[in-house]
Amino acid sequence: MTFVPERGAWRPEAIPGKLIVLRRHRGENLKAFIRWYSDPEVARLTRYQDGPLSPDEIQRFFYGRIMGADFLAMAIHIRETDRLIGTCAFSQLDGDNGSSLFHITIGERDAWGHGYGTEATGLMVAHAFTRLAIHRVALSVFEFNPRAIGAYERCGFIEEGRARDAIFRDGRYWDEIHMSILADEWEARQTKR
Ligand SMILES: CC(C)(COP(=O)(O)OP(=O)(O)OC[C@H]1O[C@@H](n2cnc3c(N)ncnc32)[C@H](O)[C@@H]1OP(=O)(O)O)[C@@H](O)C(=O)NCCC(=O)NCCS
Repeated sequence: MTFVPERGAWRPEAIPGKLIVLRRHRGENLKAFIRWYSDPEVARLTRYQDGPLSPDEIQRFFYGRIMGADFLAMAIHIRETDRLIGTCAFSQLDGDNGSSLFHITIGERDAWGHGYGTEATGLMVAHAFTRLAIHRVALSVFEFNPRAIGAYERCGFIEEGRARDAIFRDGRYWDEIHMSILADEWEARQTKR
């Protein structure tokens, strides 16, 4: 079957949820990116390298990737107040194989643990399977990030493998966990609800 996307369906203006709304990034979001990615704790949870990105690196990441055409990135806003709290994205959207990689960072620490990350992940996964004709969404997460792993599991991601001792952090080695969800698994979860 040939997939014909609706106009604007690929990168919609907004994807509304209950607690949050995903919106297209705007240039002014760079300020928030610089704050988030300068935070050592955000860096610890998201980067292989020790320590945060420099402001120049963050600016290159923002304009080159987040605002770029081959990265489907959306800003995470709290629905009630419209406060910008983070970002989530698909990279490596591979039309030949119907696969993509998912990334998420809630950069505002006081917004962790309120269910926003779980909802953002669920909205993006639903978008991938219903609007992008994706077959598989994959991600990787460090073993020492149980909050992220919990959020991904609640959205139906399952562990499919580990790169053992792939990251040295806080004085010891940890695994990088590879997780994924397939289109039919996602659909089966929708009918169960
Ligand atoms: C990872 C992240 C996206 C999760 O989003 P979040 O909004 O904080 O998480 P949620 O509130 O949706 O879900 C967290 C869940 O994980 C579980 N959890 C939270 N803290 C936990 C802990 N210390 N140990 C085990 N499980 C934990 C809980 O079940 C919690 O569910 P609850 O809402 O029922 O309490 C967000 O915290 C974040 O961006 N962190 C910094 C960057 C990062 O780690 N990105 C991911 C890199 S792979």
